Amino acid sequence: MGTLIDRFGRDHTYLRISVTERCSLRCTYCMPAHGIALKPRSELLTYDEIERLSEILVSLGVRKIRITGGEPLVRSGIEQLCAGLSVLKGIDTLAISTNGTLLEKKARSLREAGVKNINISLDSLRGDRFEKITLRSVHTDVFRGIESAIEAGFPSIKINAVIIRGFNDDELLDFVEFARALSVSVRFIEYMPFPGNNWNQSQYIPFAEMKQRIESRYRLIPKKHDEIVPGPAKEFQIENSNASVGFITTMSEHFCGSCNRIRLTADGRLRTCLFANDGIDLKRLLRSGASRDIIEDSIRSGVLLKWEKHPGHEDLITNQDREMTAIGG
Ligand code: GTP
Ligand code: 5AD
Ligand code: SF4
Repeated sequence: MGTLIDRFGRDHTYLRISVTERCSLRCTYCMPAHGIALKPRSELLTYDEIERLSEILVSLGVRKIRITGGEPLVRSGIEQLCAGLSVLKGIDTLAISTNGTLLEKKARSLREAGVKNINISLDSLRGDRFEKITLRSVHTDVFRGIESAIEAGFPSIKINAVIIRGFNDDELLDFVEFARALSVSVRFIEYMPFPGNNWNQSQYIPFAEMKQRIESRYRLIPKKHDEIVPGPAKEFQIENSNASVGFITTMSEHFCGSCNRIRLTADGRLRTCLFANDGIDLKRLLRSGASRDIIEDSIRSGVLLKWEKHPGHEDLITNQDREMTAIGG
């Protein structure tokens, strides 16, 4: 066990670091149509500051770090940051979540920098739909990015698709076939509400319905959780294949009871939950020359303030202080 234990006995071993709020896509479920106000560069943590905070967090028990954005690959020198984080003493897994648009060029160097797990967003296998949801015509870039990730030999590659009723739910079976053909994992994500994303209850498809629709054609065999740093997805092996299917069931069956995650925003705030408001300002502490002890104590007390679970659907929208794109999932 680490030392980042909260009031409900949850051990925080998984850190998600957002390295930028910028993104190369404009996914409508993630970013408001008018975009977001980007913070000045001086407000963002430098790579040195991220490494310093990560080293402290790993010494407190973090075992897995996932780099997120916005889109993390738009920040220059991301491979250097990864190379520094992957060798921190005590870290087991360095992971990254990307929209894949810049991956063709970067896959190999990320792998060489020690990234083990890569999650790539792809919400439609059809070019016209992809463009409709991302507002950009770079569908083929993402496919090439996925191919490059496979060639680079990441031990874990997962494709993320946010499923929206009436938009892409008729592609569920096509996605499973895609995963089988490439021997990767595909995860279907329940559509979540965030400020400015126009979420509406009728558009989200609960896990049970998605699973039933997939089981009309494929047998799904439940998989064991990752024993070192478990994740929230319910995972299934697709029978007679090397591929798997996962479901992220935030809306229909929350998994807060086993949550092991904390987040660091691009501007250096500690966030104890995807849906909670920003917590302590670690950047301010760092820049004011606070000692390691003070930073460690602040992190521990931040974790102790973590709530037991996120509020229900209606309150999720009004409660939040950041758009999804500025949190990084
Ligand atoms: P691994 O378990 O490390 O593979 O990653 P992940 O699935 O958590 O990360 P990814 O960045 O691929 O995110 C996939 C989906 O899970 C996104 O929609 C995230 O917003 C969502 N997600 C990630 N962490 C949490 C969490 O702590 N709570 C909730 N409710 N959703 C999360
Ligand atoms: N609901 C569910 N998942 C979302 N993501 C972005 N916005 C939402 C939302 N409203 C996902 C992206 C990416 C991951 C980091 O978060 O598709 O896969
Ligand atoms: Fe960018 Fe990811 Fe949000 Fe799409 S989901 S706009 S790719 S941050």
